[in-house]
Amino acid sequence: MFSFFSFSSASLLIASLIFYSPVYAEISKTLAEAVALTPDPEAGTKIYPLCAACHGENGFGQQQGEYPSIAGQHQRVILKQLLDIQSKKRINPTMYAFSDLETLGGLQGMADIAAYAASLPLNPSPVTGSGKQLQNGETLYLQQCTSCHGERAQGNAELFYPRLSNQHYPYLVRELRWIRDGIRKNSDPAMAQILQNFSNDDINAVADYLSRR
Ligand code: HEC
Ligand code: HEC
Repeated sequence: MFSFFSFSSASLLIASLIFYSPVYAEISKTLAEAVALTPDPEAGTKIYPLCAACHGENGFGQQQGEYPSIAGQHQRVILKQLLDIQSKKRINPTMYAFSDLETLGGLQGMADIAAYAASLPLNPSPVTGSGKQLQNGETLYLQQCTSCHGERAQGNAELFYPRLSNQHYPYLVRELRWIRDGIRKNSDPAMAQILQNFSNDDINAVADYLSRR
């Protein structure tokens, strides 16, 4: 939690306090190092077969929607999630072996694989929900989520806000419940707070809306 940059320069420290945001507070020194590297998506293709078993050759994830689509997600978002999983800040036992720095070729390898996945075209037809609560889903999304994830659910790479469009409904539902219920602990506290007011129906509605963006 208290993984502030350990800047030695006082002016940078003051600047970081002025521009304090919950997201920046979560940026670890390791993530800062990783985003500063120049990623080579071509090199990432050599490591990607490790990921394809679950996320698919095209990065679209598993058909039932249990495994997320990672195709076209922002490189910086993928990097942050891999590091959060690697450091067990985000609990994901299935992925521990595949976020191991040695396995991936260090931070450079992780940056390369993230760039490769980011370069893949978006999944045009993710698994969707029932379609019965789309109006509620749209209202909730437009009122409570666009300030960070954007009008078109495109996310914001600079601030590590994930793209939410082109993602599977079952995955979105699970993550939203885990974030609301404090199981996915690497999330933005402001977002977890908003989700406290969401019923399971609200979560299904917003996830269904997003899976059709
Ligand atoms: C054995 C199956 C499996 C393999 C192999 C695997 N993953 Fe995953 N991955 C998952 C599952 C399951 C999740 C979702 C976990 C959750 O719900 O928190 C996930 C989540 C992710 C996420 C987070 C997505 C998001 O939207 O936040 C990223 C990024 C990711 N994987 C990248 C990779 C990369 C890169 C590789 C290869 C180096 C890889 N995975 C290999 C199963 C796998
Ligand atoms: C204050 C900014 C903010 C707001 C508002 C916000 N989010 Fe998020 N959201 C984030 C951040 C930051 C992450 C990534 C957290 C992390 O690194 O794990 C995230 C992650 C997610 C994820 C997980 C994505 C993935 O690929 O695993 C989902 C789903 C999500 N948000 C949905 C929503 C919905 C729906 C709303 C509106 C009810 C919302 N968010 C409002 C900042 C926000």
